[in-house]
Amino acid sequence: MNIINRLAPYTPIFIILLGIVPILAGIARSLQILGLPIGLPDIERILSSRTDILIVHITTGVMFCTLGAFQFSPRLRKRHPLFHRWAGRTLFAAAIMLGLSTLWLALFFPQAIYNGSIVKAVRLIVISSFLVMIVLGFSAVRRKDFVAHQAWMIRAMALSLGTGTQVYFFVVWMMISNVDNDLIRGSIFAFASALNLVIAERIVRRY
Ligand code: HEM
Repeated sequence: MNIINRLAPYTPIFIILLGIVPILAGIARSLQILGLPIGLPDIERILSSRTDILIVHITTGVMFCTLGAFQFSPRLRKRHPLFHRWAGRTLFAAAIMLGLSTLWLALFFPQAIYNGSIVKAVRLIVISSFLVMIVLGFSAVRRKDFVAHQAWMIRAMALSLGTGTQVYFFVVWMMISNVDNDLIRGSIFAFASALNLVIAERIVRRY
């Protein structure tokens, strides 16, 4: 049994750990928008635009990285196929809403300091690719091509986790350099997303 097969039962935990920073930040930011006294910075920028779209983005993003994580549990799929099917339908709708809300945010939401056109371009490429993968994964399962379905879902999950894994690379970057700008942030997000995709492709090819 190779290492990927041996680690398969722990996949949901790995996924949630990789997405934990945006998951926790998302819950905290949503509660802050709803009026709770949470000390996250930059709230003036957030409240200056469409917080409803941001909340849709955060809710569907958190759903995708938590409920979605359990779709990759081999044991759950085998023992509760009906759960996998119904969760999958819900997650398809959530993923489309995540994609569309992210497109809107990337194009129109006021950008955080240091984010500029490079971050915007990377976000647009990542989220458009995510949407294409979700549609390909859904159409594969409709024609009962389960191998292709699993492959596209692994790739889509890997891309969505780029928001989480970029944080770890950013922290390492800040430990070795204090340069922070649009190019650095865009490159780190592009690198994290590409690395996730390369790892996803290795996992896909083992099947
Ligand atoms: C699929 C790739 C994703 C892209 C390209 C993306 C992009 C964005 C954009 C453009 C914003 C607007 C505010 C800003 O500029 O900071 C945003 C906010 C946010 N996103 Fe995402 N997002 C993605 C996935 C996710 C996922 C999966 C989660 C949750 C697990 C998430 C959690 C958040 C949170 C917490 C915020 C609010 C940030 C703040 O409080 O300043 N995102 N995202």
